[in-house]
Amino acid sequence: MTTTTTLKSFLGRGQHLGTAVMPEPLIQDKSYGELICSEFDTVCVEHHLKWQPLLLQGRGEHVYDFTMADLVVDWAQSKGLQVKGHTLVWHVTSPDIILKDKSPQQLREAIRRHIFTTCGHFNGRVKSWDVVNEALAPDGSFAETLFTSRIPAMELIEDAFKWARAADPNAELIYNDNKVECVHAEKSMKMFSMLESLKRAHVPIDGVGLQAHFDAAGTGLKRPATPGSLRDQIRRLATLGLRVNVSEMDVRIAKLDNLDEATRVQAQCDIYYKATAACYREPAFEGMTFWGFTDKHTWCDQFYWKDTPLLFDRDYNKKPAYFAIQDALKSVRDNAEKVKDDNEWTGSWVPQSPIASSQSEKRAKVGEALPDWQLEAQ
Ligand code: G3I
Repeated sequence: MTTTTTLKSFLGRGQHLGTAVMPEPLIQDKSYGELICSEFDTVCVEHHLKWQPLLLQGRGEHVYDFTMADLVVDWAQSKGLQVKGHTLVWHVTSPDIILKDKSPQQLREAIRRHIFTTCGHFNGRVKSWDVVNEALAPDGSFAETLFTSRIPAMELIEDAFKWARAADPNAELIYNDNKVECVHAEKSMKMFSMLESLKRAHVPIDGVGLQAHFDAAGTGLKRPATPGSLRDQIRRLATLGLRVNVSEMDVRIAKLDNLDEATRVQAQCDIYYKATAACYREPAFEGMTFWGFTDKHTWCDQFYWKDTPLLFDRDYNKKPAYFAIQDALKSVRDNAEKVKDDNEWTGSWVPQSPIASSQSEKRAKVGEALPDWQLEAQ
């Protein structure tokens, strides 16, 4: 009998590998659940654990419907998979219609009640929570949102983590954001300063999620983080006593449209291999979650363009990207050659930045609160 080695069989002690999960394909498609169980040890509910989708529509802020979230969490528990809770406080998926007329004190109370209700319902079934997601604008300033129009950002973040700790004392509490994978990016530096201040104030933050939604065709600030910059970012965050995870990784390649398919695939394999090998070698790194595992169910098709960013194709066949991840995990397990300290991507797939990135980048607006996919569509 051939025993197929799966991705999670290459993980070291304390390391995890996961994927975002949607309830519908879990119900409708047997292969979807089977592959998750064989390849990963962790799942993250992609949408249905957020504030808006948890409310029973039309019934105000006090009537929750946990059906779809429970379906995924209960399934994961039955399969021995760990669950990453995503996400308690994110302005993009909060019930704005309910919140928009509240006073600052009423808004704080609504957020506190949401955190206690949600963490209380899942108490003991969720290993970690993305307590606050994407509180920063692309330039590292605080995103100006419905929340921060009434509550100072740092106060909101501090309270959210304290409430989450009280609501679920055993869960790991994480701050999660995008475009913070490069150690030198302005947003990364400002995120570090924010976390340093919060840790100095003894706010109960245990970890950081680097989303890693990469576009191989990205230039300047949109270029994927090199392994060297990812590694240095993990090490710098570790100086605050924080654990680091890659929380939403996918690698879009469709916009490398002036290259042939083989070169686009090579770009994807390079990025997946080098990011994985660099991260999993770091003691403070605890694991990687892909934002889905099959191109059949990638959020990119709805939010960006038709792309093939993940490890399995639409028919659940393993792609070269799958083997790039497997090789990287194997190289870390066997302590094989260290990934070169690339501080610049090299290879025929790397697009030339039109002009020096500092000039080519349209300065992000201070306080920009639009999510990444809307900004990149501009
Ligand atoms: O479930 C409903 C379905 O009943 C309805 O028919 C359909 C059409 O309206 O909508 C479905 O809900 C959609 C949901 O995804 C499930 O597919 C929501 O409209 C849609 O807004 C939601 O998008 C998710 C988005 O976060 C907002 O929650 C994406 O799938 C998800 O990939 C994306 O993930 C975010 C992370 O949470 C944070 N980081 C960025 C990342 C990508 O944007």
